[in-house]
Amino acid sequence: MSDCLATGFAGCDRAADPDIFVRCLRYLAAAPGMRSIKDESLAWLGLAPGDTALDLGCGLGGEATAMAGSVAPSGLAVGLDASRVMLARAANAAGQAAVRPVFVAGDGAHLPFVDGAFAGCRVERTLQHVPVPGAVLAEMARVTRPGGAVVAVEPDWGTFVVDSSHTAVARRLAEFWCDSFRRGWIGRELGRLLSEAGLKEIEVIGRSLVLRELAAAEAVYSLSDTADRAVAAGALPQGATGSFLTELRRRDAAGTFFSSLTFFLARGRKPRT
Ligand SMILES: C[S@@+](CC[C@H](N)C(=O)[O-])C[C@H]1O[C@@H](n2cnc3c(N)ncnc32)[C@H](O)[C@@H]1O
Repeated sequence: MSDCLATGFAGCDRAADPDIFVRCLRYLAAAPGMRSIKDESLAWLGLAPGDTALDLGCGLGGEATAMAGSVAPSGLAVGLDASRVMLARAANAAGQAAVRPVFVAGDGAHLPFVDGAFAGCRVERTLQHVPVPGAVLAEMARVTRPGGAVVAVEPDWGTFVVDSSHTAVARRLAEFWCDSFRRGWIGRELGRLLSEAGLKEIEVIGRSLVLRELAAAEAVYSLSDTADRAVAAGALPQGATGSFLTELRRRDAAGTFFSSLTFFLARGRKPRT
């Protein structure tokens, strides 16, 4: 299994170095722009004490733990993930929290819960890695109670931009990176997929994540690694990426590096009848 950030999240446990994925999640969880996107999506769930809630593809468990806090003292939050490595890290991190979620191993396309089990279900940056996102959203709709909310947060890699004078290389690299994902355009699909899952009252908003340091972009997008892979795959000619990367480093040193990616937050409600 690949250690590439675009493809490896589909099977972190088979990676030669799962810590690559852990580092990416930690970095993003702490990034100021991403924090506000996460918080907005948590607020969209509208959880109250006593509720039950699910974070699907919970990764390191930060949002599942926040959800556990929202439904305390009598409610229950569940973090589900396909990766045992992620679940072990999540359980470890949540160990210090005042209120802990329950962590469960599973596949988002086959949820081990009864119909209507949750008041709110959330998924973030996971649908981009699954073969059939509609199947996961259908499962989320199934396990949500009538009137409950399903919230999805995903990037759309067609919106990734980086400031560069090497426009042809920058365009080709952005396209290559987007196409490395199973669903690189998932962000723009969310509203339609929620509707196809039978949900109503659908809302979709966009939020840009601006990263102005090359180290941040490397942690999140693996720019240098992507450049190497694009050359190896024949998407760019040998030697095409050297001056592109040198310019990015120069701009970073001058404090003028710029990259941005749009995330879409989508919410649908399960009809009451
Ligand atoms: C990019 S991470 C996002 C993690 C977390 N939602 C966050 O925002 O930090 C994607 C997560 O989805 C999990 N995952 C991938 N495919 C999955 C599937 N079919 N079912 C459940 N989890 C899955 C991965 O193990 C990983 O933890």
